[in-house]
Amino acid sequence: MSSNTMTAVQIKEAASYIAGQVQVQPEIGLIMGSGLGVLGDHIDNAVTIDYSDIPHFPVSTVEGHAGELVVGTLSGRSVILMRGRFHMYEGYGSELTAFPVRVMKALGVTSLLVTNAAGGVNLDFEAGDLMLISDHLNMTGKNPLIGPNDNELGVRFPDMSEAYSKRLRAIARETSAKQGLKLQEGVYAGLLGPTYETPAEIRMLRVLGADAVGMSTVAEVIAARHSGIEVLGISCISNMAAGVLDQPLSHDEVIETTERVKAEFLALVKELIRQF
Ligand code: 6GU
Repeated sequence: MSSNTMTAVQIKEAASYIAGQVQVQPEIGLIMGSGLGVLGDHIDNAVTIDYSDIPHFPVSTVEGHAGELVVGTLSGRSVILMRGRFHMYEGYGSELTAFPVRVMKALGVTSLLVTNAAGGVNLDFEAGDLMLISDHLNMTGKNPLIGPNDNELGVRFPDMSEAYSKRLRAIARETSAKQGLKLQEGVYAGLLGPTYETPAEIRMLRVLGADAVGMSTVAEVIAARHSGIEVLGISCISNMAAGVLDQPLSHDEVIETTERVKAEFLALVKELIRQF
């Protein structure tokens, strides 16, 4: 059996386990970044499934990232929410990081909202801003599609010219304007981590066109686009990146800022998915 066939089997086994636990077929996937998993508490008729109970699912190892799926209804839509995601800095390969997206696809998901906490690279940003992701720079040096391609999942050379859906971005701009919420827009650079960048690296990323920097999202979005899933991404700018302000970076600041903007972020997400 090729590793490729093995993966298809693993996806099916994970998806059938989940399908056996829930009543609804989810149409929208939600991957919530640090501190934003509380959205799971707002889901109606919620069924919670521990990652450790799902065949082949990795288990996340970072503090502040629970490891469970929540399936149910939110804003009248059937959703599957990941509370806690997998990062390559935890030692997972990019395929494993993207595995839950494959499983979502197998369950019937057609659109995906990804959120994350990110450092501000654009000097016009400030901590607490929300940023609509217009595009990304995959700076991880990895790609979840490396290896033999399974044509059942998607094409060998996927188009990435509209990784983040124009349609969904327009909805996000309208919705945030209606809610009187400032929404920045820009390019997310995804790096491996787990170190934050040096000031020189941040200057480099700025020259390359990055507006925000983080350690997640790109592998998941690549797998989603390969699967034909429409994607919307929103970053919470939890802090300015290294060298912008004269102060060190800490995970505590990331958590504090997401706590501060959580309410407006969640209100935006709830209204957004109604219109997905
Ligand atoms: Cl400044 N860098 C990275 N890579 N990830 C972050 C961050 C910075 N701030 C929040 N997450």
